[in-house]
Amino acid sequence: MQKIIIGNLKMNLLTIAERDQYLESFKKELKKSKISDLDVVLCPPAVHVENFVKKNKTKNVAIGGQNIFWEDRGSYTGEISAAMLKNLGAQYVIVGHSERRKYFSETNVDANAKIKNALKNGLVPIYCVGETKEDREAGNESQVIAEQIVEGFADISSAKAASIVVAYEPVWAVGSDVIPKSDEIMQVKILLKRIFADAYGITVAEKIKVLYGGSVKAASAKQVCTDAGMDGVLVGRESLIPNEFIKIAEIINANQF
Ligand code: PGA
Repeated sequence: MQKIIIGNLKMNLLTIAERDQYLESFKKELKKSKISDLDVVLCPPAVHVENFVKKNKTKNVAIGGQNIFWEDRGSYTGEISAAMLKNLGAQYVIVGHSERRKYFSETNVDANAKIKNALKNGLVPIYCVGETKEDREAGNESQVIAEQIVEGFADISSAKAASIVVAYEPVWAVGSDVIPKSDEIMQVKILLKRIFADAYGITVAEKIKVLYGGSVKAASAKQVCTDAGMDGVLVGRESLIPNEFIKIAEIINANQF
């Protein structure tokens, strides 16, 4: 299965100059790189999606959103719909990120509605799951993750489920520079694949990409992705530094099997 690296640029790139400089530097680093068979996705803030799509001419680089609402249109002040992102040329959207869960009280049920709407509009949902530090200390991580998956995937057909990308992002590892061991990540992958196999059968379970996210850096990319048997990574802070982001991409690309 072709691996994938996703950059979550979060609420950054505040000016047009900053945005243009980022894109220029990204293109330059990508051109220099030896990346061949790797899907690359950049998720800028919604206000930059149109510009990123227009300026991105590379076939294996796609653009995604960071969040959507679950309706297509209407009186939902401040919200952005999957249909809007799709029509601007985005192909992916992050759903249920831990920062959305923390600051905007998003639940698994909300994520499920958003995943369904993304699929309906032809966007690939990148569904984030992961336990908090408290869940982990209480030994509840498997139960919490299983619940996030079962509720997030509720009433989604196997044909549609196969295209969803899941990012395992332990909340305590996001923005903290603390990362799990390879075998801890692998255990979560096994748990997820078991749930998918039970719900949809082995063939579909094999197709659902499972990524790792949380403090990914070039120095740890092999540990959290290749050694852990993951299908790629979701990168936050390091994706803001094109040079570092592409370094991570090269490591993952070189370690594909
Ligand atoms: P980080 O963020 O790489 O800065 O820890 C990851 C994420 O939130 O997706």
